[in-house]
Amino acid sequence: MLAEAIQHAATSVITPKEFRPFVRSSVSLWSRAGRCAKEWAPHEENCKSFIREAIAGIRERRTAVVLGSGLLRDVPIGALAGAFDTVVLVDVVHLASIRAWLKAKRFRNIRLISRDLSGFDEALSGKAPEPLAFLRQVPYLDLVVSANILSQIGVGAKRRLEQEKNPKSDEILQRLIRAHLDGLAALPCKVALLTDTAYKVADRHGNVTEEADLLRGVPAPQAKRCWKWPVAPYGELGKDVQAIHDVIAM
Ligand SMILES: C[S@@+](CC[C@H](N)C(=O)[O-])C[C@H]1O[C@@H](n2cnc3c(N)ncnc32)[C@H](O)[C@@H]1O
Repeated sequence: MLAEAIQHAATSVITPKEFRPFVRSSVSLWSRAGRCAKEWAPHEENCKSFIREAIAGIRERRTAVVLGSGLLRDVPIGALAGAFDTVVLVDVVHLASIRAWLKAKRFRNIRLISRDLSGFDEALSGKAPEPLAFLRQVPYLDLVVSANILSQIGVGAKRRLEQEKNPKSDEILQRLIRAHLDGLAALPCKVALLTDTAYKVADRHGNVTEEADLLRGVPAPQAKRCWKWPVAPYGELGKDVQAIHDVIAM
């Protein structure tokens, strides 16, 4: 609790005001990732090796952008920083501990950008969301990694739409998911997409008590790899239930 409070306070002061509401969920993710490190390790290694393979297939390595860089747990940051001239990490929040770690490692070619990648405000005002349009301004872009952010865009937007009791919630969520996928598909460079697509909560006998499509009915792209990620292993949600997410990489 004390570590969380310190992380929250230290991150809040260095986070632009508009993104401070997201600090709390970033700190919770950090706490859960620490508690579930053993169970999350295979998922994180799968993500890192997929990104390393993507890097290996790229000849020109000038700028790489990571969307949803977060805690840098599923991103091989050393390999990216070693391979590219510039690595740009984009997230609503970069935790104070992650900033400190990057500084301590003396990565000189890493830039951090705080940005809402959802397109939520545009979609809410009835415009076609283009959350990845800013990537068109990034010079010499050779790789974009979408690092387990897509489902979280939906989760965050769903929460905000529920608070507002928005009657167009389902339609807006689908537009946001599509906008991310379309934005990636339109990029003129190598793209690596990692995302969870669905989850199930089940007890120790395999009885499913809850399940959901995290892409809100939008068809998942053809995956090159897929695996399971125990996001909430036994003990997180309850002693005898676990939440397992389906992950794809493409
Ligand atoms: C499951 S975590 C990804 C973990 C991260 N790739 C890592 O290696 O630790 C999802 C990330 O997406 C970020 N995120 C969620 N919604 C976002 C949004 N609308 N815009 C930008 N980042 C967002 C969260 O802050 C979080 O860091």
